[in-house]
Amino acid sequence: MEKMYLKPNVVIEPLFDRWYAWSHLISPATSAMNIAGRHLKIIDSYIQSPKMHEAAVKSPKMLGGPFMDYKTERVEDVKVLRKDILEKSDTALAFAAAIAELDEMLKANAKGSSLEVLYPKVPDILKGYVELLYDLNNQPSYRFFEALLYKSKHYNKNSQSIALWITNNDERPFCLSTPRLDEPNVLHLPVPFDHPGIDQLSRMKRTPGSVAEIAKVLGVEDKDRAFFETLFTETAHPAYKKYEGSKARMRYFGHACILIETENVSILTDPVISYYGYESSVEHYSDIDIPDEIDYVLITHNHQDHILFETLLPLRHKIKNIIVPTSSTGALQDPNLKLMLNSIGFNNVIELRDMEEITHGNVTITGIPFTGEHSDLCVNSKLCFRVGIDNFTFLFVADSRVMEPALYRHIQSVIGDIDVLFLGMECDGAPLTWLYGPLLTQKISREHDQSRRLAGSDFERGMHLVNIFHPKEAYVYAMGQEPWLEFISSLRYTAESHPIVQSDMLVKECINRGIIAERLYGEKELFYNYEGYVRTPSSELLAVK
Ligand SMILES: [Fe+2]
Repeated sequence: MEKMYLKPNVVIEPLFDRWYAWSHLISPATSAMNIAGRHLKIIDSYIQSPKMHEAAVKSPKMLGGPFMDYKTERVEDVKVLRKDILEKSDTALAFAAAIAELDEMLKANAKGSSLEVLYPKVPDILKGYVELLYDLNNQPSYRFFEALLYKSKHYNKNSQSIALWITNNDERPFCLSTPRLDEPNVLHLPVPFDHPGIDQLSRMKRTPGSVAEIAKVLGVEDKDRAFFETLFTETAHPAYKKYEGSKARMRYFGHACILIETENVSILTDPVISYYGYESSVEHYSDIDIPDEIDYVLITHNHQDHILFETLLPLRHKIKNIIVPTSSTGALQDPNLKLMLNSIGFNNVIELRDMEEITHGNVTITGIPFTGEHSDLCVNSKLCFRVGIDNFTFLFVADSRVMEPALYRHIQSVIGDIDVLFLGMECDGAPLTWLYGPLLTQKISREHDQSRRLAGSDFERGMHLVNIFHPKEAYVYAMGQEPWLEFISSLRYTAESHPIVQSDMLVKECINRGIIAERLYGEKELFYNYEGYVRTPSSELLAVK
């Protein structure tokens, strides 16, 4: 049979127990807590009152809330899903209960004396996986030996699967609240994320291959073959054109995803890439604009819109190095990203710490401290990046909230000014429980929850970066406003929304000061002649569309 291409708008959707997979569903401890504290709670609530869910998802105010988005009643199907999850999750549910029990035990017994006597009281399922600790103020806690959990029955690959379907528009339910039930035109395959068949399938977007062969590799059953074949085409996709200039090219792909290419190196930040060949209301780059090899993927932090498996898995075969922030806290809320990525088939992960750098020819990538945006929880796996090409520098601060400008002044005294600044300004942010709720073993008051947010910088905080680093250009990310991002960001702003007002103010203030500035949306392409710039620092226009 003739060789075929995978259609450019085929989605390879990674699922965990049929829920949209994200990093907290991979690391064993957070995954157990999310099964118990998010998935089963939403499922039970839906089974009890499907009408309430149906009504809630229609209300824009409830966007991103814990409501399943099914137009018709799917109670029987959800009951079947619940049964499947319970059958698979005995161990995970026992593990989640034990975490709550451990917290209780420490609260009751750890009063400042040695913790050694408490080891026999650690729930059996956690024995050998935790060390008991105090902080310097006698607050008891514990840390996980996460690497061992991945090697144990607590890492459950059987819950992973992929769904294959063709996207024709940007409409998708909010993915953290709606599991994927059986639907026509969606093929579910029990394929774990580290399966080489995912790479082989993804390669077929560029290099045609045998449909029969890939069907065999992925274990497609005969009954599904006819549908599977509709995912392929004889038509080659538009070809990617490598950047061959002597400058650098920057392409904005939406959200916090930026591709920097020089003649020799390509760098992709927080990959979130949309598809080609479907109806979208906004022009955008897609995976046809991604090079055949990506030298470095930079991950800024462990939020579901910055580590998007749906993008990362199909790119895995192209990624030569993936740079992540280091974390060795062992804290439940701060799973180690290297272990997580290794477990899903990324074997080329480099951990970077604050102010550490790696060099590749004339390119230097430096880890820069990232503060805030994690509800004041101890989370170390977050890092901003400075990318230097010769002396020309980009600073990607992602969602970092500048709470203490002195930190960035210290950084500036080490790295100097930067030329181009990219920042997110989602300055309202969701409350703590929106993301971390399932990890809490004690109720948090509404007041505390509302005050501890996942918020990025506002105008005042963003301007600290401008004042300190004196960029020549400043770009604000679109903050989840691209239509293909709504299913993951659950944000819909108007001109009056606080993040829009605040970022408009920053853009205006920058322009008043002669800084090229804009809030990005959809796509953007800029070329930088960094050599010319270094020679003539006063030259006005660096960016030429
Ligand atoms: Fe974030």
